[in-house]
Parts: sequence; structure tokens; C-alpha cells
Amino acid sequence: MASTLMRTTPALRGALRSRAMKPAAAMASTTFVRGKATLPDMPYDYGALEPHISGQIMELHHSKHHQTYVNGLNSALDSIAEAEGKGDYTKAASLAPLLNFHGGGHLNHSLFWENLAPASRDGGGEPDGALKKAIDADFGSFDTFRKQMNTALAGIQGSGWAWLAKDKSAGNLQLVTRANQDPVTGNLVPLLGIDAWEHAYYLQYQNRKAEYFDAIWNVVNWKTVAERFGKA
Ligand SMILES: [Fe+2]
Repeated sequence: MASTLMRTTPALRGALRSRAMKPAAAMASTTFVRGKATLPDMPYDYGALEPHISGQIMELHHSKHHQTYVNGLNSALDSIAEAEGKGDYTKAASLAPLLNFHGGGHLNHSLFWENLAPASRDGGGEPDGALKKAIDADFGSFDTFRKQMNTALAGIQGSGWAWLAKDKSAGNLQLVTRANQDPVTGNLVPLLGIDAWEHAYYLQYQNRKAEYFDAIWNVVNWKTVAERFGKA
């Protein structure tokens, strides 16, 4: 089942990677049972990003919102598998939006937690090395990039994300936005994502979302971004 899904929904392979498979011996048979997507552990305490992002936001965001995407992804995959088992491909295809939404939500948030770090540790500052050079080459300067990212975030209507991504074909960096939980896929490799959903800031910043977009740079983990850039 999972192998079919991985062929038909390449955009969500990342989500499926987190679904533990049966041991190799069990997979030798013609069928195998996939595991469930699970909520990843946070790499820091919920309160560790304060005062820039409150512990209350982080706890709700991770333990409730992200958990809902994990549950929705598992449910969508189960429903698709059931439809597939019955040969009801119309039903399976009709579930694609659910898979995209919850699978994207799981992927995006899994990347997001690792994009952040306490300001007292790896958070904040500016990138250096090859990543800095690439940002300077493609945006002019780090300050210009940050302003463009904040402008992109402010321009998102409704819910969505802004991403710094590397285009594997062209080799350059790009700034892209995605509506709702649409994941960054295809030739684009997501390096840094900032969540512009109200649930990411409203408890602390209310309608002052520009303050959230300014504050989050104090807790961006450039080491993670550089590692992703190096592998892209
Ligand atoms: Fe979120």
C-alpha cells in the first residue's frame, strides 16, 4: 500500500518517511503494514523561545495543532488505503486534498521546529559561510532578504507560510509563499519556513503580526538552514 502511495504522491514522501515500516523480513512478503506518522519531539523546551514566542503558543502549536495534522495524515492515508483496497480509485482520488493538507501540515511543522532555536543557544544572528554568500548573491544582502521575507509574510492573505528555498535545477535561492499547508515540493528544497497562521502568534501578538515577523528572526536557527542548504 505504502509503496503505491509513494509512487502516486511523491510530494508527500517526506511525511511517509517518518512512518516506520515493518522489518525487512516482514517486507519480503507481497504486502506489508505501514506504521503511523508520529509527532516529533521538540528540540527545546516550549518556553525556550521566550520572550520572542511564548511558551503557551509553542505548547499549543506543537502538542495540539501539529498533533491534529499528524492525526489527519494518518486518517487520510488509512482512508485512501481502504479505498484503494476496494479498487475505488475515485474515492481515493477525492481524498487527495486531505492528504495534501494534513501531510503538508505535518511536514511544514516538522521543518519549522528545527528552524528555530533559543536565542541563548543557536537562535538569531545571521548566516555565514556558503549560505551567506548565496543569500548575498541572490538577494543582495541579508537585510534585503529579511525585508523581502517579511514583506512576503505580511502579504499572505489568510493562512500560509513563507519559505527560503533552493531551486535544485537553477541552483539559486528563492523566496516563495504557500497557502494553507501546501508543502514546498518539486525542484524547490525548503530551507527556512516561517508559519504565518494566526495560531503561530495570536495569543501573544494578537493583530500585530508584523511584530511576530520581526521577533522570530531572534530565534531562527541558521545552523539548520545551512545544513539543509549544504545537502540541497
Ligand atoms: Fe502552525
